Amino acid sequence: MLAAFTTLQNAEKVKRFLQKKEVLHHEYLPLKEMQTIYFPITKRITMPNAKVVTTKFSFPIKKKPQTIDQLLKSKLTATQLKLIPRSQEIIGKIMILEVPDQLKKKEKLIAETYLKLNNSIETVVRKDKIHSGVYRTRTVKILAGKRTKETTHYENGITLQLHLEKTYYSARTANERLRIAKQVKPQEDVLVMFSGAAPYVLVIAQNARPKKIYGIEINPMAHSYAGKNIIMNGFSSIVKLFEGDVRKIIPIIKKKFDRIVMPLPKIAEEFFNVALSKIKPGGIIHLYAFLHENEVALYKKKIRDIAKQSKKSIQIQRYVKCGQFSPGTFRMCFDIKLKK
Ligand SMILES: C[S@@+](CC[C@H](N)C(=O)[O-])C[C@H]1O[C@@H](n2cnc3c(N)ncnc32)[C@H](O)[C@@H]1O
Repeated sequence: MLAAFTTLQNAEKVKRFLQKKEVLHHEYLPLKEMQTIYFPITKRITMPNAKVVTTKFSFPIKKKPQTIDQLLKSKLTATQLKLIPRSQEIIGKIMILEVPDQLKKKEKLIAETYLKLNNSIETVVRKDKIHSGVYRTRTVKILAGKRTKETTHYENGITLQLHLEKTYYSARTANERLRIAKQVKPQEDVLVMFSGAAPYVLVIAQNARPKKIYGIEINPMAHSYAGKNIIMNGFSSIVKLFEGDVRKIIPIIKKKFDRIVMPLPKIAEEFFNVALSKIKPGGIIHLYAFLHENEVALYKKKIRDIAKQSKKSIQIQRYVKCGQFSPGTFRMCFDIKLKK
């Protein structure tokens, strides 16, 4: 086999030269021998600092990063391969597969293959029943690996302990949480309605300098995970969590807030009047909704009407799309200011 032979001292220089000339063999690894090194090359070339030789030995083969297609090509047809969704949600050490009906019989095989492919994953589950009910929980079915639905997830500098069925959580909204945290000014009092296992509360605590953050959550299991997560991340001194219905908890809380986050996209606007009663003049409410682009104008009117009924004057500063639900329909966040 053809190789460029040089000393270890000149190895870097020679390697760069070979790369530049595009003659370095990509399928094999270089071989060291005492103070010398052989670089496998694809064609004869003259070069400074190295001699081209023909070796009698063969070079170690480079391990290529494998893909799901490579691992499954002998077990699935080309049509079946195309049906495997490429972007999977990963929460902690659990991958959540969305298996199309046509591949149901192959779901275990696909799950086991993903497990082999990705060292950081210990369990592969499939989406079963979608998020529903007041607690917005879902069900998943374990397909391969460790039989657990609980995991530890990292996002935006925080650690969250979660259970895929007992609490709502979406890794896909991590960027949106950081967008909110970046708006929080030092010493703000923040309220997160519908706080779940506390991802918003913690991302704000970690990435901003609020005075206090309150969270309200109706699901006892989510509230319990939130409590553990606050302790685990060391924010007990600035966070206060309440278990119960926002409508019942709000009257117990005596103070008003600089910022209120409302991450309950399906029906958050039903609680908008409650938020208006607790926001300081000049404060910001982040109201989430699932909307088609065509529905934005009507939704803005609905919000303004609620404010009018509550005798509050608001300014809708902006809305951002922070996730796609279906073609044309997005998870949107409306940033709304209570006028002074
Ligand atoms: C879409 S999840 C968001 C959870 C969390 N903020 C997150 O981003 O992961 C909405 C949460 O609101 C809670 N919830 C629903 N209705 C509520 C109410 N009336 N009062 C308090 N929490 C409520 C649900 O239990 C659920 O955990």
